[in-house]
Amino acid sequence: MTRKIKTAALISGRGSNMAALVEAARAPDYPADMALVLSNRADAAGLDFARNHGIAAALVPSKGRTREAFDAALDAELRAHGIELIALAGFMRVLTPELVAKWRGRMINIHPSLLPDFKGLDTHARALAAGRREHGCTVHYVSAELDAGEIIAQARVPVLAGDDANALSARVLEQEHKLYPKALADVARRLLD
Ligand code: GRF
Repeated sequence: MTRKIKTAALISGRGSNMAALVEAARAPDYPADMALVLSNRADAAGLDFARNHGIAAALVPSKGRTREAFDAALDAELRAHGIELIALAGFMRVLTPELVAKWRGRMINIHPSLLPDFKGLDTHARALAAGRREHGCTVHYVSAELDAGEIIAQARVPVLAGDDANALSARVLEQEHKLYPKALADVARRLLD
């Protein structure tokens, strides 16, 4: 079998993007192996999904730890599993510049807006409030500055009359689940070359 890039999905909650990556990675020719699902929260629903799919699930608690201590524990766990590429998928922690530097070019994130617009939280409500006719999602490399790393891929959706944040979020999420597996595959293939 051809070599695959050992990948970890980092989550804090629902984990629907992580699940989309796991599903995509079942294809024999997918260039990444989803080898680990790691959460900073014990109650992340995605941890159960990982366990039920026979994927290693790790908890690295962030509560009560300094940012530096958390990042050191995170890095140790990733290295213990031989991880080569990190996919942040609803991971609600800001990482230290030191950790980001260590994983430069090997850590990607999905963000629910057309970056550079609407960095940070509540992207759907903010896109509606700004009167945008178009919205979407972005996969990007992680850099020290939040939601500002090099863009890998984007998907666009229309904003429809009568949309509220929930309706818009659902339309974007459907695209996220298609975009992230494709973008991760592109990054993994580049690492294999
Ligand atoms: C997604 O909208 C993602 O873009 C953002 O957080 C949300 C996570 O959802 N970073 P899920 O946990 O993947 O279902």
